[in-house]
Order: sequence, then C-alpha cells, then structure tokens
Amino acid sequence: MESWGNGSDRIGEDASTLPAAFVARMKEMLGDELPAFLAALSGRSTALRVNPLRLSADRFEEIAPFDREHLAYPSGAYLVPAEERPGRHPYHAAGLYYIQDPGAMVVGALAGARPGERVLDLSAAPGGKTTLMAGMMDGAGVLVANDVVRSRAAQLAGNLERCGVTNAIVTVESVARLVSRFGAWFDRVLVDAPCSGESMFAKSEAARTEWTPDVVLGCARRQMDLLLAAGDLVRPGGVLVYSTCTFSREENEDVVEDFLARRPDFSPEALPFVAGASPAGGPVLSEALSDPDGETEDLQHSAEASSSFAAYRLWPHHMPGAGHFVAALRRVEGMESRLPEPRSKGSPEISLRSFRAFFQSTWPDATIPGRIEARGSTLFAVPSGVPDVGGLNVLRPGVELGTIHGDRFEPAHSLALAIPPEQAASRIDLPLESPDVLRYLTGHTIEAEGPPGWWPVTVDGFALGWGKRVGSTIKNHYPKGLRWPS
Ligand SMILES: C[S@@+](CC[C@H](N)C(=O)[O-])C[C@H]1O[C@@H](n2cnc3c(N)ncnc32)[C@H](O)[C@@H]1O
Repeated sequence: MESWGNGSDRIGEDASTLPAAFVARMKEMLGDELPAFLAALSGRSTALRVNPLRLSADRFEEIAPFDREHLAYPSGAYLVPAEERPGRHPYHAAGLYYIQDPGAMVVGALAGARPGERVLDLSAAPGGKTTLMAGMMDGAGVLVANDVVRSRAAQLAGNLERCGVTNAIVTVESVARLVSRFGAWFDRVLVDAPCSGESMFAKSEAARTEWTPDVVLGCARRQMDLLLAAGDLVRPGGVLVYSTCTFSREENEDVVEDFLARRPDFSPEALPFVAGASPAGGPVLSEALSDPDGETEDLQHSAEASSSFAAYRLWPHHMPGAGHFVAALRRVEGMESRLPEPRSKGSPEISLRSFRAFFQSTWPDATIPGRIEARGSTLFAVPSGVPDVGGLNVLRPGVELGTIHGDRFEPAHSLALAIPPEQAASRIDLPLESPDVLRYLTGHTIEAEGPPGWWPVTVDGFALGWGKRVGSTIKNHYPKGLRWPS
C-alpha cells in the first residue's frame, strides 16, 4: 500500500500498482482522505445476501453455516470470511444466497423495485442487482433483464434460475431496439452502466492496466448515450436509476447533470437514507430534496433520514464495499407514452398433454408460473404481463419448463428450481450433512427408496435439481455445466 502514490507513471511495480494519474485525481477529489481511501480500495471483502425467494433472513440465521457479520443495509446481508468459500456450498447451489459486493447490494436495494412493477435492468449481467430486485418484487410484476453481451446474458440467466426467479425474461439487445419495441413502458429502469471500473482495481489487474484518463472519457460518452436512450424506456412518472462502480466525476455526477440538462422531462428523485453514503453533488443533484409524497422510506430509522438526496457516493473508506455511485431520476407525468398491450400468443400448437400430466403429478396443487409458450419442442412459462417481444433477441422468455419428446415430457433444470419443493408430491431430500449431497452435486447417482420417476432433489428442503428414480437408484440430472469437480 505504501508504494501507491509515488509519482511515476504506474505506482509500484507489482500487481497491486495503481495508475499515477488515477491517484492524483483521487487526491484532488479526496484531499486528506486519500490514504484511508487507498487502504480501503486495496481490501477485498466477501459478502452475501439472503435470497428472500428461498427463505427469510430469520430462517437463514437459524441455519447459516458460516461465521458472519451483519451488514447494516440491506437486511439479510452479511460479511463472510473468504475462507468459508460460500460459493462452494450446497446452499449456494440451491440459491439460498447471492455473493455480492456490499456496495452493489446497496445500489440494487436503492433501485427500489416493488411487487407488481414493470422493471428493466438494462445492463444486468451477471445479475447481482437483477436477483436482488427480483427478491424485492417477490415474483409479482415483470422484470426484463438485458445485457448486450450474449455470454454474459447466459450467466445472468443461470443466476436467475439458481435463485428461483419466475417473473423475469432475459434479452440480448441494444437499448435502441428495446426502445423501438417497448417504448416508455417501464415503471423503473436501472442503468448499471459499463464503466472504467476504478473500484475494481484491487480485484482486477485488467481494470488497473487498461485505465487511462482517455478511457474514463470514452466511458462517460458511452454512458451518456446509454442513459439518454434509456430515458425513453421509462413511463411518465417512472424512475430511472443510474449507477457505476467507478469514482471519476466524468462518469458519475457529470453524466447525470448533463442528462438532466438535456432531458427536462426528468428531475432528481429522493433516495432513501443510507448510513455512511455521501450525498453526491453537482448544481442540480446535490440539493437536498424534500419528500412531498412521503414515499421515501426511512430505511434505517435514523433522524438523518429527514434529508433526502438524489445521488450518493458509496466510498469504500466510509462503508463496506468496493465503491459505487448511484442516482435516481423521475420522469415527469403528463406525457403520452406507447404502452404495448400484453398479448398472449395463445396455446402453443404442440400438445401439452404430457407436460400437464407431469406437472400435475409432481406438484398437484402448484400453479404454472406464467403462460405457456413453445419454442420448437421446448416449453417456457412466460411471466404474465410480458408483452409480445417478437423480433427481439430473447435468451430466456421466462422459466424453461422442459421439452416434449413425442408423448413424453422431460423437465428442465429451471423447473425444479422454480416451484417450491414443499409443494411436490414426493422429493428426494438430503440433509446437509449427508455425503449424498456432494455425490449429487458432482454428478453421481445416489440410492434412495421411493416412488419411481422424476422428483426434485433437495438439500434440507431447498431444491437443487432433478433426480430420476429407477428402482432405488436416483439417476443424476444435475446439469453437467453446473457440476462440482469430483
Ligand atoms: C457493471 S456491469 C453490470 C453488473 C450487473 N448490473 C450486476 O449487478 O451484476 C455492466 C454490464 O453492461 C453490459 N453492457 C455494456 N454495454 C452495454 C449496452 N450498450 N447495453 C446493455 N448492456 C451493456 C456489459 O456487458 C456488462 O455486463
């Protein structure tokens, strides 16, 4: 750390070096706080938040398998010692929690998605904030998760599946094409913009070595274009949230101030109070806002919550997390917008008999999470309220249900994770301590008596995937791409 900041082009000589120009800029921004900032920037923390679609924070407390330290915000979030390796735990495979930077959690929570809303996460991969917002929506409303990079969107779809999100579709689209299809349709749009990633310097050598002041300016231009176009996706009265994980003014306050100057149909929107977050400035943004509708929640029951701000910086030396910027803007009411009517495609032409029989016998009292649509012989449950998205590049139109093979239905992995396993007529439940959990996650068969056929395999009652029982042998249908190394 001492070596950071000695005036050469790149500070220090090992992998933990920082660009000198970056340090100089930060010194200008932070003054005496620079040493504390640099110390915090070099730290790494492992944190996770409980997935409320799987269990409550109280229930997690009862079964949590790790040493942990509560984070103040959001609820159900913890710092965990890295050596606990929470990503290599069966509860992770079952989607009980999501591993995420604490600051990213705050941003996702401040994005403020509510049940029943139409929400767009424009640059969503790998899905940290999408899965958080999905938890806040509690399965109600429509969540469109988009990323322009297909491989990253696939990762996003995998995380939505693991977390049991049933009300999301995943698209791989440019913002312009989303605008031409949806128009001003969304109650809430999050632009978690691609940025110069200055808060990632400790974690990513590429972020450090590729950084230059010109990269910052290039990012700022791209962010401005993205945000301006994203504004057209927000319905009048809806909210646009902009965030980055970088520190430069150019990519943060300047983008939002410039946006406000060019889009008089938007104004700063009060964010809830968060302890440790610093109000972020600019001529328009830094004004404390009154909260005329009384909508802003006092999330931490603090007297300080009487002032509300439209933008925050989450500095790594003031609060846990790598460092973020977040701002909220509301589109003024009173403009016409084009709202495509949700249009059902009707029942697919393919026979659903085998699927319906399978679903009914597996979960006699459960509801299919959406309307059924077929792509070839593969069935999906499209969340209700999703308009016709024909013409868009849709990676995941909803929950993949499975595939019809003649008069036989083969369920998809997503289906096992989407329906609460306690509703299943039977299941293969493995206690966490059982060696069969590892056998299952590494792709081996297990032995267990019970009814024949496909049943959800669960760990402590939480779904991991499918097993198909023949005699007393459970054939392993945990997807090959997800299996743990033996
Ligand atoms: C900061 S990351 C998003 C992190 C994510 N929101 C999360 O919380 O896990 C930015 C993402 O923007 C995507 N991206 C870059 N340019 C884009 C564009 N023009 N439209 C949509 N997404 C874009 C990148 O592929 C990247 O996945």
